[in-house]
Amino acid sequence: MKLSSLVFGTLFGITVVLANSQYSQNEEDCSEEAKTCQEGWLAFNRPQGTWCVKVFPNVSNIWGAEEVCKAEGATLTGVQSTEERIMIADAGRELNLKLGNVTLEGSRLSVWLGARRRAECPNKGDCSALTQFLWTDKHTNGTEGFVWSETNPSGPASQKCAQLLIAMDQKRLARDWCRKILCPHGSLDDTYCENKQMVACGKEAI
Ligand SMILES: *[C@@H]1O[C@H](CO)[C@@H](O)[C@H](O)[C@H]1NC(C)=O
Ligand SMILES: *[C@@H]1O[C@H](CO)[C@@H](O)[C@H](O)[C@H]1NC(C)=O
Ligand SMILES: *[C@@H]1O[C@H](CO)[C@@H](O)[C@H](O)[C@H]1NC(C)=O
Repeated sequence: MKLSSLVFGTLFGITVVLANSQYSQNEEDCSEEAKTCQEGWLAFNRPQGTWCVKVFPNVSNIWGAEEVCKAEGATLTGVQSTEERIMIADAGRELNLKLGNVTLEGSRLSVWLGARRRAECPNKGDCSALTQFLWTDKHTNGTEGFVWSETNPSGPASQKCAQLLIAMDQKRLARDWCRKILCPHGSLDDTYCENKQMVACGKEAI
């Protein structure tokens, strides 16, 4: 195992050090080159293979967001675990701190994810918080990533897309409406695909 990068950050006053490690070739696997992510991309070691994720500061609706990812050979990413969810939100917060939380186009207070509401939800069939949305990146699986802010996903059915909310700190909550409900850093919210915000892209390691 080699350390590819060290990230230092302050999370609610606690200093955290994240070592972003990659697996190097092991002895049983000497025929295959270890797969890696490009510089600047987070490497998530999933059972289905290494998945690379990067948050882009481009502020765009969901279709523009997919174009941002496509230009990187990627697609809007899903979230497989709590660790991934918080690391993506932290990357968004870092961009916000650097570039500001609003632009003429939209907001850097949240990040588009690759998830869409199932056509029959929220009205018909099994539409719980874990099943209303599906990951669209063809890599993410499971439902551990579907951790929503309080009362969400709330619908209506026309809120077809899912955003990851960024909280700058515990007092400055992600959005005004979060003064009334709990929106922890890195929680999800269903919203209109037309809204404009940052973009989280994902692709397989090569
Ligand atoms: C994203 O933003 C960068 C920097 O402004 C820009 O160069 C790039 O063209 C944008 N990507 C898309 C797909 O609009
Ligand atoms: C956005 O940034 C400005 C300037 O830093 C700040 O005053 C404001 O509270 C921020 N808004 C939110 C919702 O965090
Ligand atoms: C996700 O896919 C991997 C690899 O195919 C599998 O091992 C794992 O059990 C799946 N996880 C879930 C939660 O479905």
